[in-house]
Amino acid sequence: MDRFFTFEGIEGCGKTTQMRMAGDYLKSRGLMVTVTEEPGGSGFGRKIRDILLNKSSEDICAEAELLLFLSARAQHVKDVIKPALLREEIVLCDRFSDATLAYQGFGRGLNIETIHAMNAFATTALKPDKTFLFDLSPEMGLKRALSRISQRDHFLKEDRFEQEQIQFHERVREGYLSLAKMDPDRFIIIDASDGINAIQEQLRSLLLSFVNG
Ligand code: TMP
Repeated sequence: MDRFFTFEGIEGCGKTTQMRMAGDYLKSRGLMVTVTEEPGGSGFGRKIRDILLNKSSEDICAEAELLLFLSARAQHVKDVIKPALLREEIVLCDRFSDATLAYQGFGRGLNIETIHAMNAFATTALKPDKTFLFDLSPEMGLKRALSRISQRDHFLKEDRFEQEQIQFHERVREGYLSLAKMDPDRFIIIDASDGINAIQEQLRSLLLSFVNG
């Protein structure tokens, strides 16, 4: 029986909406579910999220960025994820260790093996049971993400990553796909260009089969 599920993909892939809808659905079936996100998930994590995602922040080098994501993750695992798993709840988490490999490793060019080791340290080797990768072209994803951000309040833009060049998002997408190739038992690739209802239907039935399996 799988309980720890993560949701990954480039900006604008729709994973957050899909994860929240699936969480509500599982709860409506009487299951105990914790829905959480990275960076964030706790007071400490949200403060780090502010530093990391707002364009107005001063320049942060790739190494410092990596350490901040990992720091947020360590606290998140300890305060939110592990306690929920110990309560035998289902945990749906918006991004986790794979995001650091894809963005800071494949995107920024930091050493992949080093990030693997640092992820293991930050998470005390906790791995998701299953990871849903919402795959989409960066052109489509960024179009969606930037139109959503333009409707937000100035202080809530959180657009530091969306402002990166399209080549950065290509590397992140390819990075995710190669992570999925290396771990085909854990990754499920979802075509994020499909309609919202079709994706939700697919996700619900996959989740139910993994939870009951
Ligand atoms: P999101 O709320 O759209 O998922 O935004 C989180 C952003 O942070 C997204 O651009 C990806 C980035 N990110 C990393 O670069 N590394 C990480 O480890 C995590 C969790 C997120």
